Amino acid sequence: FPQKDLLGKRLMVNAGTTCEDIDPVRFISNRGTGKMGYCIAQEAVSRGAEVILVSGRTHLEPPTGVEMVSVWGAEEMCAAMLKYQARCDIIIGAAAVGDFRIAQVAGQKLKKTEQSSQKMVLELIGTPDILKELGKNKPEHQIMVGFAAETENVLENARKKLESKKLDFIVANDVTMEGAGFATDTNIVTIINKDGQVSPLPKMSKEEVAGAILDEVLKLL
Ligand code: C5P
Repeated sequence: FPQKDLLGKRLMVNAGTTCEDIDPVRFISNRGTGKMGYCIAQEAVSRGAEVILVSGRTHLEPPTGVEMVSVWGAEEMCAAMLKYQARCDIIIGAAAVGDFRIAQVAGQKLKKTEQSSQKMVLELIGTPDILKELGKNKPEHQIMVGFAAETENVLENARKKLESKKLDFIVANDVTMEGAGFATDTNIVTIINKDGQVSPLPKMSKEEVAGAILDEVLKLL
């Protein structure tokens, strides 16, 4: 039986991918599956935490015992998390938040071009960085954790994100490595904390990675 070492703690985790509408039938999104965030939610519930799972699009079943908040776009995800932030002891950002939305969402379905060679231009605009926004209201006791999916200079890029988002620690992974990143059941991560301590972990199931992240959180509580 798992230890109930998170009993009495409130944890909010976001997961899945955000979607941005182009028109009433089309949207843009990304390859995030929600697997890592759902594993964290599941593990936290088993360890006794009260869990709010703010989820973008995914095919996964929500773990039993979580408070589920389903969202669509990045702005909606940000607003939902700001709403629940004050009651949380721990916030983990595991969602694959889209960095752009469509500048002008069309009210009607866009018509196809007359000729297939004709260009169709969509203008994009940035979305809020959710963890950065939450960081602005972060109470002293609140622990905030983020992920850094990188394709190069993993540690250096992850450290920059740790600082700019004012995180307690960041979970970095090289998504080009086999057995890491999107749509895999395993992950190979390195935990970097704000004191500069770097802890590389071996290849693990995402369930085990979730456990390792919560162990690290416990050290800080
Ligand atoms: O800056 P980058 O997107 O690489 O940082 C990844 C971390 O930041 C993840 O924890 C992700 O959930 C979070 N993030 C966010 N809001 C965004 C983009 C990423 O909270 N708009």
